[in-house]
Amino acid sequence: MFKAEIDGIEMELEEKISILDAAKKAKINIPTLCYEEGLSIYGGCRLCVVEIEGEELLKPACATEIEDGMKIKTHSKKVRELRKNLFELIIATHNIDCQLNCLTCSRASNCELKEIAEDIGVSKMRLDPIKRGESIDNSSYAIIREPEKCISCNRCIRKCEEVQGIGIFTTANRGPETVVTTFKNRGMGNVECTNCGQCILSCPTGALHELYQKDIVLDLLNDESKHVVVQTAPAVRVAISEPFSNQAGDISTGQLVTALKRLDFDAVFDTNFAADLTIMEEGTELIE
Ligand code: SF4
Ligand code: SF4
Ligand code: FES
Repeated sequence: MFKAEIDGIEMELEEKISILDAAKKAKINIPTLCYEEGLSIYGGCRLCVVEIEGEELLKPACATEIEDGMKIKTHSKKVRELRKNLFELIIATHNIDCQLNCLTCSRASNCELKEIAEDIGVSKMRLDPIKRGESIDNSSYAIIREPEKCISCNRCIRKCEEVQGIGIFTTANRGPETVVTTFKNRGMGNVECTNCGQCILSCPTGALHELYQKDIVLDLLNDESKHVVVQTAPAVRVAISEPFSNQAGDISTGQLVTALKRLDFDAVFDTNFAADLTIMEEGTELIE
Protein backbone atom coordinates (compact mmCIF):
# COMPACT_ATOMS: atom_id res chain seq x y z
CA MET A 1 0.00 0.00 0.00
CA PHE A 2 1.35 3.46 -0.88
CA LYS A 3 0.05 7.01 -1.03
CA ALA A 4 -0.05 9.58 -3.82
CA GLU A 5 -1.94 12.78 -4.53
CA ILE A 6 -3.69 13.82 -7.73
CA ASP A 7 -5.10 17.35 -7.97
CA GLY A 8 -5.15 17.53 -4.18
CA ILE A 9 -7.01 14.22 -3.81
CA GLU A 10 -5.13 11.82 -1.55
CA MET A 11 -5.14 8.27 -2.79
CA GLU A 12 -4.14 4.97 -1.24
CA LEU A 13 -3.05 2.51 -3.88
CA GLU A 14 -2.21 -1.15 -3.64
CA GLU A 15 -0.44 -1.69 -6.92
CA LYS A 16 1.68 0.22 -9.39
CA ILE A 17 -0.68 1.49 -12.05
CA SER A 18 -0.36 4.29 -14.57
CA ILE A 19 -1.10 7.86 -13.54
CA LEU A 20 -3.94 7.75 -16.08
CA ASP A 21 -5.56 4.74 -14.39
CA ALA A 22 -5.07 6.30 -10.96
CA ALA A 23 -6.72 9.51 -12.18
CA LYS A 24 -9.65 7.46 -13.49
CA LYS A 25 -10.06 5.92 -10.04
CA ALA A 26 -10.23 9.46 -8.62
CA LYS A 27 -12.81 10.39 -11.32
CA ILE A 28 -10.40 12.89 -12.86
CA ASN A 29 -10.52 13.17 -16.63
CA ILE A 30 -7.22 13.45 -18.49
CA PRO A 31 -7.58 13.85 -22.27
CA THR A 32 -6.03 11.06 -24.33
CA LEU A 33 -5.70 10.38 -28.02
CA CYS A 34 -3.28 7.54 -28.74
CA TYR A 35 -4.34 5.61 -25.62
CA GLU A 36 -7.06 2.98 -25.93
CA GLU A 37 -8.07 0.62 -23.15
CA GLY A 38 -7.09 -2.95 -24.00
CA LEU A 39 -4.26 -1.98 -26.36
CA SER A 40 -0.57 -1.69 -25.54
CA ILE A 41 0.72 1.75 -24.53
CA TYR A 42 2.13 3.82 -27.37
CA GLY A 43 2.73 7.15 -25.62
CA GLY A 44 3.00 9.07 -28.89
CA CYS A 45 0.50 11.93 -28.76
CA ARG A 46 1.57 13.32 -25.35
CA LEU A 47 -1.87 14.85 -24.89
CA CYS A 48 -2.18 13.19 -21.50
CA VAL A 49 0.80 15.08 -20.03
CA VAL A 50 0.71 15.85 -16.29
CA GLU A 51 2.95 17.79 -13.92
CA ILE A 52 4.71 15.88 -11.14
CA GLU A 53 5.96 17.92 -8.20
CA GLY A 54 9.76 18.18 -8.23
CA GLU A 55 10.12 17.17 -11.89
CA GLU A 56 10.83 19.71 -14.57
CA LEU A 57 9.55 17.76 -17.56
CA LEU A 58 5.87 16.94 -17.95
CA LYS A 59 5.14 13.22 -18.19
CA PRO A 60 2.56 11.28 -20.22
CA ALA A 61 0.01 9.91 -17.74
CA CYS A 62 -0.72 6.81 -19.82
CA ALA A 63 2.94 5.75 -19.92
CA THR A 64 4.08 6.75 -16.41
CA GLU A 65 3.58 4.64 -13.29
CA ILE A 66 2.33 6.36 -10.19
CA GLU A 67 4.78 6.11 -7.30
CA ASP A 68 4.74 6.49 -3.55
CA GLY A 69 4.56 10.14 -2.48
CA MET A 70 3.94 11.54 -5.98
CA LYS A 71 2.01 14.80 -6.15
CA ILE A 72 0.45 15.22 -9.56
CA LYS A 73 -1.34 18.10 -11.22
CA THR A 74 -3.42 17.21 -14.25
CA HIS A 75 -4.64 20.69 -15.25
CA SER A 76 -1.97 23.21 -14.14
CA LYS A 77 -1.26 26.19 -16.40
CA LYS A 78 1.93 24.55 -17.68
CA VAL A 79 0.01 21.35 -18.49
CA ARG A 80 -2.87 23.13 -20.19
CA GLU A 81 -0.57 25.26 -22.35
CA LEU A 82 1.52 22.32 -23.54
CA ARG A 83 -1.61 20.25 -24.18
CA LYS A 84 -3.06 23.00 -26.37
CA ASN A 85 0.19 23.41 -28.33
CA LEU A 86 0.48 19.67 -28.87
CA PHE A 87 -3.14 19.41 -29.93
CA GLU A 88 -2.72 22.27 -32.41
CA LEU A 89 0.25 20.47 -33.93
CA ILE A 90 -1.77 17.25 -34.16
CA ILE A 91 -4.73 18.86 -35.90
CA ALA A 92 -2.41 20.68 -38.31
CA THR A 93 -1.65 17.24 -39.74
CA HIS A 94 -5.37 16.63 -40.19
CA ASN A 95 -7.10 17.54 -43.47
CA ILE A 96 -7.90 21.29 -43.64
CA ASP A 97 -11.33 20.63 -45.21
CA CYS A 98 -12.36 19.44 -41.79
CA GLN A 99 -11.57 22.61 -39.76
CA LEU A 100 -13.04 20.90 -36.68
CA ASN A 101 -16.39 21.86 -38.13
CA CYS A 102 -17.02 18.94 -40.41
CA LEU A 103 -20.15 18.55 -42.45
CA THR A 104 -19.46 15.53 -44.57
CA CYS A 105 -16.97 13.60 -42.44
CA SER A 106 -18.02 10.12 -41.32
CA ARG A 107 -17.05 11.12 -37.79
CA ALA A 108 -19.01 14.38 -37.79
CA SER A 109 -21.28 13.25 -34.96
CA ASN A 110 -18.70 11.44 -32.83
CA CYS A 111 -15.27 12.91 -33.55
CA GLU A 112 -12.77 12.53 -30.71
CA LEU A 113 -10.79 15.50 -32.03
CA LYS A 114 -13.80 17.77 -31.65
CA GLU A 115 -14.50 16.45 -28.15
CA ILE A 116 -10.90 17.09 -27.09
CA ALA A 117 -10.86 20.53 -28.74
CA GLU A 118 -13.92 21.48 -26.71
CA ASP A 119 -12.50 19.97 -23.53
CA ILE A 120 -9.15 21.77 -23.66
CA GLY A 121 -10.44 24.98 -25.22
CA VAL A 122 -9.13 24.97 -28.79
CA SER A 123 -11.68 26.65 -31.05
CA LYS A 124 -9.68 27.55 -34.14
CA MET A 125 -6.70 26.29 -36.12
CA ARG A 126 -3.77 28.66 -35.61
CA LEU A 127 -1.19 26.64 -37.55
CA ASP A 128 -1.16 26.19 -41.29
CA PRO A 129 -2.26 22.63 -41.99
CA ILE A 130 0.18 20.23 -43.61
CA LYS A 131 -1.33 18.79 -46.77
CA ARG A 132 0.39 15.60 -47.80
CA GLY A 133 -1.52 15.15 -51.04
CA GLU A 134 -2.45 11.54 -50.30
CA SER A 135 -5.44 10.21 -52.17
CA ILE A 136 -8.43 8.37 -50.72
CA ASP A 137 -8.11 4.59 -50.85
CA ASN A 138 -11.31 3.13 -52.32
CA SER A 139 -9.86 -0.28 -53.16
CA SER A 140 -11.73 -2.25 -50.47
CA TYR A 141 -15.38 -3.22 -50.82
CA ALA A 142 -15.98 -2.38 -47.16
CA ILE A 143 -13.41 0.02 -45.71
CA ILE A 144 -12.38 3.45 -46.96
CA ARG A 145 -9.07 4.96 -45.86
CA GLU A 146 -8.53 8.72 -46.00
CA PRO A 147 -4.83 9.14 -45.13
CA GLU A 148 -5.02 12.94 -45.07
CA LYS A 149 -7.26 12.71 -42.01
CA CYS A 150 -4.81 10.45 -40.18
CA ILE A 151 -3.17 11.93 -37.10
CA SER A 152 -0.79 8.96 -36.60
CA CYS A 153 -2.25 7.91 -33.27
CA ASN A 154 -1.20 4.35 -34.10
CA ARG A 155 -4.38 2.83 -32.67
CA CYS A 156 -5.31 1.02 -35.91
CA ILE A 157 -1.85 -0.57 -36.03
CA ARG A 158 -2.17 -1.94 -32.50
CA LYS A 159 -5.84 -2.93 -32.87
CA CYS A 160 -5.30 -4.90 -36.08
CA GLU A 161 -2.17 -6.58 -34.72
CA GLU A 162 -2.98 -7.11 -31.03
CA VAL A 163 -6.72 -7.77 -31.17
CA GLN A 164 -7.29 -9.20 -34.63
CA GLY A 165 -3.86 -10.80 -35.04
CA ILE A 166 -3.64 -9.59 -38.65
CA GLY A 167 -1.32 -6.56 -38.71
CA ILE A 168 -1.96 -4.89 -42.03
CA PHE A 169 -0.99 -1.40 -40.85
CA THR A 170 2.50 -0.09 -40.31
CA THR A 171 4.44 3.18 -40.21
CA ALA A 172 6.56 4.57 -43.02
CA ASN A 173 9.24 7.31 -43.13
CA ARG A 174 10.89 8.89 -40.09
CA GLY A 175 10.55 11.83 -37.72
CA PRO A 176 7.98 14.44 -38.75
CA GLU A 177 7.54 12.61 -42.07
CA THR A 178 6.24 9.49 -40.32
CA VAL A 179 2.88 8.30 -41.63
CA VAL A 180 0.63 5.36 -40.86
CA THR A 181 0.04 3.27 -43.93
CA THR A 182 -0.74 -0.27 -45.01
CA PHE A 183 1.67 -3.10 -45.65
CA LYS A 184 3.78 -1.95 -48.64
CA ASN A 185 1.37 0.98 -48.99
CA ARG A 186 -1.10 -1.28 -50.75
CA GLY A 187 -4.78 -0.42 -50.95
CA MET A 188 -7.06 -1.85 -48.24
CA GLY A 189 -8.51 -4.15 -50.88
CA ASN A 190 -5.08 -5.61 -51.67
CA VAL A 191 -3.93 -6.65 -48.19
CA GLU A 192 -4.98 -9.51 -45.91
CA CYS A 193 -7.73 -7.42 -44.27
CA THR A 194 -10.70 -9.47 -43.03
CA ASN A 195 -12.99 -6.41 -43.04
CA CYS A 196 -13.80 -6.96 -39.38
CA GLY A 197 -14.07 -3.18 -38.85
CA GLN A 198 -12.17 -3.12 -35.55
CA CYS A 199 -9.73 -0.48 -36.82
CA ILE A 200 -12.68 1.77 -37.73
CA LEU A 201 -13.93 1.56 -34.14
CA SER A 202 -10.48 2.60 -32.91
CA CYS A 203 -9.84 5.44 -35.34
CA PRO A 204 -10.51 8.76 -33.55
CA THR A 205 -10.89 10.67 -36.83
CA GLY A 206 -12.55 9.94 -40.16
CA ALA A 207 -9.35 8.40 -41.56
CA LEU A 208 -10.91 4.93 -41.54
CA HIS A 209 -14.58 4.41 -42.17
CA GLU A 210 -17.10 2.08 -43.74
CA LEU A 211 -18.06 2.30 -47.38
CA TYR A 212 -21.42 4.06 -47.60
CA GLN A 213 -23.77 1.50 -49.15
CA LYS A 214 -27.22 2.76 -48.20
CA ASP A 215 -28.02 4.10 -51.67
CA ILE A 216 -27.08 0.80 -53.33
CA VAL A 217 -29.38 -1.13 -50.98
CA LEU A 218 -32.25 1.36 -51.24
CA ASP A 219 -32.01 1.33 -55.07
CA LEU A 220 -32.29 -2.47 -55.00
CA LEU A 221 -35.25 -2.34 -52.61
CA ASN A 222 -36.98 0.15 -54.91
CA ASP A 223 -36.48 -2.12 -57.93
CA GLU A 224 -39.65 -4.22 -58.25
CA SER A 225 -37.99 -6.66 -60.63
CA LYS A 226 -35.56 -7.77 -57.89
CA HIS A 227 -36.16 -10.28 -55.09
CA VAL A 228 -34.00 -8.77 -52.36
CA VAL A 229 -32.93 -10.92 -49.40
CA VAL A 230 -30.96 -9.99 -46.31
CA GLN A 231 -28.96 -12.31 -44.07
CA THR A 232 -27.90 -11.17 -40.61
CA ALA A 233 -24.95 -12.38 -38.57
CA PRO A 234 -25.66 -13.57 -34.99
CA ALA A 235 -23.98 -10.58 -33.32
CA VAL A 236 -26.20 -8.02 -35.04
CA ARG A 237 -29.29 -8.80 -32.91
CA VAL A 238 -27.30 -7.77 -29.83
CA ALA A 239 -25.34 -4.86 -31.34
CA ILE A 240 -28.56 -3.25 -32.60
CA SER A 241 -30.28 -3.31 -29.21
CA GLU A 242 -29.25 0.17 -28.06
CA PRO A 243 -30.44 1.94 -31.26
CA PHE A 244 -33.77 0.16 -30.60
CA SER A 245 -33.76 1.77 -27.11
CA ASN A 246 -33.17 -1.60 -25.43
CA GLN A 247 -30.43 -2.30 -22.89
CA ALA A 248 -26.89 -3.02 -24.06
CA GLY A 249 -26.56 -6.80 -24.37
CA ASP A 250 -30.30 -7.41 -24.97
CA ILE A 251 -31.27 -9.74 -27.81
CA SER A 252 -33.54 -7.90 -30.26
CA THR A 253 -34.15 -10.49 -32.99
CA GLY A 254 -37.88 -9.73 -33.34
CA GLN A 255 -37.42 -5.98 -33.73
CA LEU A 256 -34.54 -6.53 -36.16
CA VAL A 257 -36.57 -8.81 -38.43
CA THR A 258 -39.61 -6.50 -38.28
CA ALA A 259 -37.47 -3.47 -39.19
CA LEU A 260 -35.92 -5.30 -42.15
CA LYS A 261 -39.34 -6.43 -43.40
CA ARG A 262 -40.61 -2.86 -43.08
CA LEU A 263 -37.68 -1.73 -45.19
CA ASP A 264 -39.20 -4.03 -47.85
CA PHE A 265 -36.74 -6.90 -47.92
CA ASP A 266 -38.47 -9.86 -49.56
CA ALA A 267 -36.88 -12.39 -47.22
CA VAL A 268 -34.87 -12.20 -44.01
CA PHE A 269 -32.41 -15.01 -43.32
CA ASP A 270 -30.59 -15.74 -40.09
CA THR A 271 -27.04 -17.12 -39.92
CA ASN A 272 -27.62 -18.50 -36.41
CA PHE A 273 -27.66 -22.19 -37.30
CA ALA A 274 -24.54 -22.02 -39.50
CA ALA A 275 -22.78 -19.98 -36.79
CA ASP A 276 -23.63 -22.68 -34.22
CA LEU A 277 -22.12 -25.32 -36.51
CA THR A 278 -18.95 -23.22 -36.89
CA ILE A 279 -18.62 -22.86 -33.12
CA MET A 280 -19.13 -26.61 -32.61
CA GLU A 281 -16.47 -27.29 -35.22
CA GLU A 282 -14.02 -24.78 -33.69
CA GLY A 283 -14.74 -26.10 -30.18
CA THR A 284 -14.05 -29.66 -31.32
CA GLU A 285 -10.78 -28.57 -32.97
CA LEU A 286 -9.75 -26.82 -29.74
CA ILE A 287 -10.45 -29.89 -27.59
CA GLU A 288 -8.59 -32.17 -29.99
S1 SF4 B 1 -10.81 -4.35 -40.78
FE1 SF4 B 1 -8.93 -5.18 -41.66
S2 SF4 B 1 -7.39 -3.64 -41.19
FE2 SF4 B 1 -9.13 -3.23 -39.83
S3 SF4 B 1 -8.67 -4.37 -37.93
FE3 SF4 B 1 -9.92 -5.71 -39.22
S4 SF4 B 1 -8.41 -6.93 -40.35
FE4 SF4 B 1 -7.31 -5.17 -39.53
S1 SF4 C 1 -5.85 5.75 -39.43
FE1 SF4 C 1 -6.98 6.46 -37.62
S2 SF4 C 1 -6.43 4.98 -35.99
FE2 SF4 C 1 -4.91 4.75 -37.64
S3 SF4 C 1 -3.22 6.09 -37.02
FE3 SF4 C 1 -4.53 7.27 -38.40
S4 SF4 C 1 -5.94 8.37 -37.04
FE4 SF4 C 1 -5.00 6.74 -35.82
S1 FES D 1 -2.70 9.32 -24.60
FE1 FES D 1 -0.89 9.30 -23.41
S2 FES D 1 0.64 9.77 -24.84
FE2 FES D 1 -1.15 9.66 -26.08
